[in-house]
Amino acid sequence: MVEIWAHRGSRVAAPENTMAAFRRAVTDGADGFELDVQLSKDGRLVVIHDETLDRTTNGHGLVKDHTFDELRALDASGGRGGFAGEQIPPLEEVLQLAASARLRVNVELKNSEVAYPGLEEKVLAAIDEAAMTERVVLSTFSQESVRRLTAMTAIQVGLLFDLNQLFIGPCRRAVALGATALHPPRRRTTRHLVERAHAAGLTVRVWTANDQRWVQRLVGYGVDGVFTDVPLVARA
Ligand code: G3P
Ligand code: CA
Repeated sequence: MVEIWAHRGSRVAAPENTMAAFRRAVTDGADGFELDVQLSKDGRLVVIHDETLDRTTNGHGLVKDHTFDELRALDASGGRGGFAGEQIPPLEEVLQLAASARLRVNVELKNSEVAYPGLEEKVLAAIDEAAMTERVVLSTFSQESVRRLTAMTAIQVGLLFDLNQLFIGPCRRAVALGATALHPPRRRTTRHLVERAHAAGLTVRVWTANDQRWVQRLVGYGVDGVFTDVPLVARA
C-alpha cells in the first residue's frame, strides 16, 4: 500500500501545522503526518512552516527571534473561523499525539534559510523521549543537515529537493549523503526517477498531490508514499 501522509496535517480542513490539523489527519485515515520544525529563541522545538510568523499567525518577524512563551501566545488559526485558540505546537506534543494514535511522523527540519545549530540533536532527543524512533522519518532540503543526521541516527532520512534543484543525479546525491529516502516534488517525479531511486535502495515519497488524477499517476509510477493536503481524497 502507498503511504498517505497528511502534509502539515490535514491543512485544507484545518490550519496547517496545528494540533487541529494533526487530529484531523488521524480521523481522515492518514498513515502519518508531515510537519515542519524550527527552534525558538530559547531553543525549544516548534512546529511551523515559514521562517516568519506573518502568514500563519497574528505575530510578526522571525520565529528564531521569539521565545517559546512568546510563540505560544500567538494565534495560529490563520484567521480561519472555528479554530480560535489554535497555537504553534511544540514538537513534543505532536509526537505524543502520533504515538497515541499509532501514526507515523515525517519531521522536516526547516534549516535551509536559518541554520539553527543543534536542531538535529534536539529533534533526535525529542523522538527518543517520545519512543517514536520506529515511526519517524526525517527530512530536510539542507544537504549538510542530511549528512549530519545520517551520521547521528539509524532513523530513515529523506533528501528533499525542489523544482529548481538537483537536475543531475538526485538519487546519487541522496545515496552519497547517506539518505535512504528521496522526497521529490510532484512535477519532477517520473516513472524513470522512481525506478532509479528504487534501484539505489531509496524510498520515494512525493510532495504534494491533492487530486485523484495526480495520486493515481504517482501510484502508477510505483511511489512509496504521497504527501497530501487532503488525505480523504488521496485515500479515496
Ligand atoms: O516535505 C514535503 C514538503 O513539505 C516540502 O515542502 O515547503 O511544504 O515544507 P514544504
Ligand atoms: Ca514541509
